[in-house]
Amino acid sequence: MEQRIRKELYLKGHVAENTFEDIIGQSPAIKQAKEEAENYAQIDSPLLIYGETGTGKELFAQAIHNVGPRKNNPFVAFNCAAIPENLLESELFGYVGGAFTGAKREGKMGLFEQAHKGTIFLDEIGEISTDIQARLLRVFQECKVRRIGDDKLTIVDVRIIVSTNKDIYRLVEKKKFREDLYYRINVLNLNLPPVRERREDVPLLVNFFIKKYRQKLKKVVKGISIEGIQILENYTWPGNVRQLENIMERLMVRAKEDYIRASLVREVMNSLPGNKLGLNRGDFFKSDMSIPLMGNLEEIERNIIKRVIQEEKGNKAAAAKRLGIGRTTLWRKVNNK
Ligand SMILES: Nc1ncnc2c1ncn2[C@@H]1O[C@H](COP(=O)(O)OP(=O)(O)O)[C@@H](O)[C@H]1O
Ligand SMILES: [Mg+2]
Repeated sequence: MEQRIRKELYLKGHVAENTFEDIIGQSPAIKQAKEEAENYAQIDSPLLIYGETGTGKELFAQAIHNVGPRKNNPFVAFNCAAIPENLLESELFGYVGGAFTGAKREGKMGLFEQAHKGTIFLDEIGEISTDIQARLLRVFQECKVRRIGDDKLTIVDVRIIVSTNKDIYRLVEKKKFREDLYYRINVLNLNLPPVRERREDVPLLVNFFIKKYRQKLKKVVKGISIEGIQILENYTWPGNVRQLENIMERLMVRAKEDYIRASLVREVMNSLPGNKLGLNRGDFFKSDMSIPLMGNLEEIERNIIKRVIQEEKGNKAAAAKRLGIGRTTLWRKVNNK
């Protein structure tokens, strides 16, 4: 019985594949997030997951669904940023036959109805217009949806998980996000740490993806050099785990030996658009050499500044301009005052 239901959900794509075991990381930050999430799985209240892009918001939402009381019912994920405004409404709420030109004759079930008894995960909730926000609020409050063109309401019983990579409260202040909806969804909240705040997880993630792509690409690669790992550990990862996975796939595709060498890592990292090792913006440097990212932040900063001064052949005014800081600041930072 359970299997039959799951099979049907699979066909519709409404199954959460991942569990907490699939969330890699041993850092205190990720452990704490997992612990909190496991507790939240047992509570039916709305949950707001905050995290930069690629930090695993959807992964966590799936894991939460899969250990909670609704695990044998649908998990419906929807990315609010991926669909144009005019389609958003009919996707979420559905419509009745003949509701508008181009509508299917038999009408269409919205995602809320499809998620009935399960979980609905609305990714990037910060992207929706205030009109749709108003409609969402009504659904959340009344637990009923009205299809477009319909005069009756349908009861829906769903657990709501939403996510955002924006500071929603800032959006509330700027009147881009309804305050009432904000309070409605922000009952439980979970913050996912960016990779650069849990660098100790990088080696684990790297090994995880080596194993994954070794199988997928049928490669013999068994590992990566220590220096290679260090380069990856020191990078800022603005795209977080998603970006790390992408880089690991590229490294695995290109690796010719049975381990990934540091020279290959350096080459791939240096080819990222606008990136040099360890920095988000590489346009400070004219040449291709990387700065050793050792020591504390001040030391690293000092090395960068010295390097730029060198490149500007000692012209401090030019160096300051390129770095976007004042000459006095530059002097102070170089002389550690
Ligand atoms: N801690 C993690 N361990 C393993 N894979 C992860 C982890 N965090 C994210 N991922 C993977 O990275 C990719 C992006 O995750 P996703 O949940 O879509 O991020 P977000 O929704 O925050 O942008 C997915 O392929 C996901 O499986
Ligand atoms: Mg996402």
